[in-house]
Amino acid sequence: MLLNIDDYRRAARRTLPGFVFDYVDGAADDKHCLARNRRDLDAITLVPRVLRDTRATDTAVEVFGTRWRFPFAIAPTGLNGLVRPGGDAALARAAAAMGVPFTQSTASNQRLEAVRQAAPDNPHWLQLYVMQDRSIAEQLVRRARQCGVQALVLTVDVPVSGNRERDARNGFSLPLRPTAKLAWDLASHPGWSLRMARAGAPQFANLVEDPDAALSAQAQAALLSRAMDRSLVWDSLPWLRSLWDGPLLIKGILHPQDAARALQHGVDGLVVSNHGGRQLDAAPSAISVLPAIVQAVRGQIPVFMDSGVRRGADVARALALGARAVFVGRPVLYGLATSGQAGAEAVLQILARELTLAMTLLGAARLQDLEPQADDASAGSDAPSP
Ligand SMILES: Cc1cc2nc3c(=O)[nH]c(=O)nc-3n(C[C@H](O)[C@H](O)[C@H](O)COP(=O)(O)O)c2cc1C
Repeated sequence: MLLNIDDYRRAARRTLPGFVFDYVDGAADDKHCLARNRRDLDAITLVPRVLRDTRATDTAVEVFGTRWRFPFAIAPTGLNGLVRPGGDAALARAAAAMGVPFTQSTASNQRLEAVRQAAPDNPHWLQLYVMQDRSIAEQLVRRARQCGVQALVLTVDVPVSGNRERDARNGFSLPLRPTAKLAWDLASHPGWSLRMARAGAPQFANLVEDPDAALSAQAQAALLSRAMDRSLVWDSLPWLRSLWDGPLLIKGILHPQDAARALQHGVDGLVVSNHGGRQLDAAPSAISVLPAIVQAVRGQIPVFMDSGVRRGADVARALALGARAVFVGRPVLYGLATSGQAGAEAVLQILARELTLAMTLLGAARLQDLEPQADDASAGSDAPSP
């Protein structure tokens, strides 16, 4: 029975070849950061308040003038086409069905315009990696502007790729190198292999300007080898601003001074994240640094958080500590692997159901009631404390 996100994780493990599951599920070095994300979330208790009217719970939140039905969204993940052909559009549609945004990765496998078309009425965000050849980012941002992307998310925690040893042990590289182990892996997952054989190997479809031209081998190789622009610094932000005048977020903030710096540079939002434990294994959990970052920006811009969210109660925890909303990465990929769009949607529904239940049990009819300093007198005295 698929009752929770961990059930979907186990189902994904059965459905996906080992090297794909390991790519999705894996993390850096000894996975301490991955474990820390969960441990620190689990350690936060929320104290129920009783005898409050919770006949109707309101889970909606407003972000950049748009109403989300729930305070969570889909995080950018690269290579969704390896999990399922058409994975980016499937996730965008799942998000739309739930009334929450989808963030498309620079390393996605479908054209930005095509994914935008898959869910034209839903907020669509674009995550940006800036590679050494900055013209790639410039083209992508220009296309984002033209096709109505709502917000741009600059990821700053990947100057180089983290050390993911499961990928190295599996010999995972693109294009796939034929080995006996790979042949066995594919043969024992016929559903996945058949779908992939029909669709062809996933490409980084957004790294070429002209969709009809042969894929730019150079740009693809740059992304694969994570040839990021390591000269990208705070003073590079005006360059990005000159290309993009919509909401600009920075993803991968863990230090309050960096949060304050982002604020000074006119950034519109932050995503507190350690990339799901996939980059620096020694990094703190995202939830543990969230309060200091919320304090550093003094309510001037929304602060989002990801890394480790697996239950609706985790969403409540992050909101109680000041996050406007959270993002989920692996959970929707487990759903996508298990049953495509329907699976991703089911995962989001689980989060929604669990969040509503947690709010009701906490006596919090509205998301604001989850905040430590709720100021609405009608909510009673203090809101639930973390
Ligand atoms: C398979 C995979 C691919 C990812 N690719 C990207 C990416 O292309 N860009 C990015 O900013 N973050 C990427 N991330 C990080 C996610 O956006 C997010 O920070 C992380 O997954 C959150 O943790 P969670 O998986 O515990 O929810 C990726 C994560 C996973 C699991």
